Amino acid sequence: TIYADSEQASVAVARQIAQLIAQRAAEQRPCVLGLATGSTPTRLYEELVRLHREEGVSFRHVVTFNLDEYFPMPPDSLQSYVRFMHEYLFDHLDIPAGQIHIPDGTVPQEQVAEFCRRYEEQIREAGGIDLQILGIGRTGHIGFNEPGSGANSRTRLITLDHITRTDAASDFYGEENVPRRAITMGVGTILEARQVALLAWGEGKAAVVKRMVEGEMTDSVPATYLQKHPNVQVVLDEAAGAEL
Ligand code: GLP
Repeated sequence: TIYADSEQASVAVARQIAQLIAQRAAEQRPCVLGLATGSTPTRLYEELVRLHREEGVSFRHVVTFNLDEYFPMPPDSLQSYVRFMHEYLFDHLDIPAGQIHIPDGTVPQEQVAEFCRRYEEQIREAGGIDLQILGIGRTGHIGFNEPGSGANSRTRLITLDHITRTDAASDFYGEENVPRRAITMGVGTILEARQVALLAWGEGKAAVVKRMVEGEMTDSVPATYLQKHPNVQVVLDEAAGAEL
């Protein structure tokens, strides 16, 4: 779906999430959301906060799993995705802390594999992800599944691509400060979500959006694996959809 601008697109996706929450509540089931960070979903999160404050949408029965976190990364650091999610979303909602899951950038390296295994298990125990929100990186990454990530990859420690570290440089006051690694849900983990909404705004994303939607499925653009998913929605503004 191509919207006139990211504002309208974000409001529409927020409304869709509110409907999903209501639908799951009617079924007396928790609503499990997969969430993303980056600049793309910030307006969406602001709108969810507004729906909570002004329209009474409750997140008490929502369970969330975030896609990724830099490694290593203390949760109170400026660039931490834990901090990001609390600032933009969780601190303004009625979601119980125990229902929030974000990969932990403080796990000792030798325990990361076990942490990742447990993260996958927690997703399964929650009943699987109902709706996964995604952004896309210029390398074609979803989460931090950089080129080379296979369709069956699971939650794991990965090495960040040079382009991704360049793109993150301003957040870290210089590329040399950007962590070299991250923990991310795998492509396989993402593909198991019952529904996926990938969001992209601006002309800087137009080329990678074209490759994702129209290109051949390949490890070199992991987002192309979304073509296999039976219920995926690509939500764009006009600039991001300009090359389609
Ligand atoms: C980071 C995140 C991704 C996100 C991407 C795009 O790499 N790990 O989940 O999709 O950045 O960021 P932005 O939304 O700021 O363009």
